[in-house]
Amino acid sequence: MKFFIDTANLEQIKEAQDMGILDGVTTNPSLMAKEGITGTDNIMKHYVNICKLVDGDVSAEVISTDYEGMVREGEALADLHSQIVVKLPMIKDGVKACKYFSDKGIKTNMTLVFSAGQALLAAKAGATYVSPFIGRLDDISTDGLNLIAEIRMIYDNYGFDTEILAASVRHTMHVIDCAKLGADVMTGPLSSITGLLNHPLTDIGLEKFLADYKKGN
Ligand code: G3P
Repeated sequence: MKFFIDTANLEQIKEAQDMGILDGVTTNPSLMAKEGITGTDNIMKHYVNICKLVDGDVSAEVISTDYEGMVREGEALADLHSQIVVKLPMIKDGVKACKYFSDKGIKTNMTLVFSAGQALLAAKAGATYVSPFIGRLDDISTDGLNLIAEIRMIYDNYGFDTEILAASVRHTMHVIDCAKLGADVMTGPLSSITGLLNHPLTDIGLEKFLADYKKGN
């Protein structure tokens, strides 16, 4: 299972990268705005800075909603760095743009996916990643994890290569449940990754080992 971090915060990206377990980064316009990164030039520079920090794929989202605009933007994003994955919204023109980039060998991530039907379309368009938003489904009393299970079944039925990127992950149990269900990738905040470290028995055990060592030395 790949671990992506869902942020545009360079310090958090660096912290996850330094742990040696980071496989990539996902961003979106809201996450960029949260870091105060505005204006096309600054946003483009920030993507390059993120790519320099990590070894894996970095999803960069288009803001156009028409096919021509998405192609233009996506090509500019892909030209920025070899690690860039063009992130496209799950709308008709987004699917068409996904097929365009897939045919050109440019990696894509279909975002804002909330149903199995949308995930099927993403796979048909040759998306590298499909991003079902599990947390936002949970927010409206709909089981986000069930969507991961449905997509896994459908993709396995037909051998689709599109990787299931569980997105809008909010906490550690989302990560663990997604792993059980066979999601290929998860993307979440730093806390959803570092939280996996925590167990009181680890802390108690370590404290005792160190205390016992001190007794003999
Ligand atoms: O990866 C998708 C993500 O950015 C959305 O997460 O927490 O805003 O629903 P959230």
